[in-house]
Parts: sequence; C-alpha cells; structure tokens
Amino acid sequence: MNEGSSPFPEQPAQKHKKAEQEVVKIDWEEIEKIIRRYEAGHEALLMIMQDISDSYNYVPPQVVPFLVEKLGVKESLIYSVATFYKTISLEPRGRFVVNVCTGTACHVRGAERVMDALEDKLKIKAGETTDDLSFTLETVRCVGCCATGPVITVNQETHGGLDRSGAVRLIEEYAEDVLQQEG
Ligand code: FES
Repeated sequence: MNEGSSPFPEQPAQKHKKAEQEVVKIDWEEIEKIIRRYEAGHEALLMIMQDISDSYNYVPPQVVPFLVEKLGVKESLIYSVATFYKTISLEPRGRFVVNVCTGTACHVRGAERVMDALEDKLKIKAGETTDDLSFTLETVRCVGCCATGPVITVNQETHGGLDRSGAVRLIEEYAEDVLQQEG
C-alpha cells in the first residue's frame, strides 16, 4: 500500500481538528430542498437535521442560523437535538462511523479488546475522528445482535463475531474502499 495515500493517520488525530481548519462548502439549494421536503415545518426539525447529516455526515455550523430563520426554531433547540440524538452531530464525522457495542453481552465477549485494536489501528480514541475524515470511532449500547458479539456497526452495516485481528481486517477493507473511491 502506498504509505502517502494511507487513510490511516500517522499521528494521533486531534478531535475535530478539521473543523477548525476547514469550512465545508454548503449546497444551499440542497438544504432548501430538504427543508421544503418537510414543508418548512419546525416540527420536522429532527428529520431535517438527519437528512442534512446524511448528506454532509454532520450538520455544518453555518447551516444552524439558516434553520433558525427558515423554521422559526430557537438555536438552543437545534443544539439540544444534536446533543440528544447520537446520529446527529454539529461537528465533522468520518465517512465511516464505527460504533463498538459495549453492551453487556459484547463486553463479556471481548468488546474492550476490539475497541483497543481499533483505537490502535486508527490512532484515535472513542469519540474522535481521523484527521482525513475517513473514520469516526464511537461506542453504542447494544444493537440487538447480542448472540454474535462482540459486534460493531459501520454506518448501517453490522458485523459480529469479531476479535482484534478481525476488527482490524474489517477496517482495512473499508479503508481500501476510501482509496478506491479517491481513485
Ligand atoms: S450487547 Fe452488543 S449487541 Fe447486544
């Protein structure tokens, strides 16, 4: 593998470092379209924020005042939604969000070892995002596949029966996807 193009950071990532360095380019037409889809109803705030998250992997901060104006909601409500719902973030997240299940069944089957292996591989801690925005590592409490633990989810996909090396191999496969897409 070409070292220079590796999606794995050589240095530990600083949480949300990219957020300070870059202002993401917003497609305002697309944001308007999402809002119109829900008829600009303030009661649809959660769904609107989720759709924006699906497009950008997070809700870019510059969108917040726009939502306030268009939906007539308080800025504090937007922050509350982002705090309460794990799938919505106001800070950049990786293309792949990796959740390690730390529920009891996965815990007794070795979730901690899986988490250690992923932290070592990605050089980030739980709650952080790699500098290249490829991966975000998080924890989750039981995803309902306890019999196949330890379990991790990567975006919408669930993977069970992992040990340290299996988890690392899996992440390498996703990293390969990143490289292929970047061409
Ligand atoms: S405890 Fe991990 S899936 Fe249930």
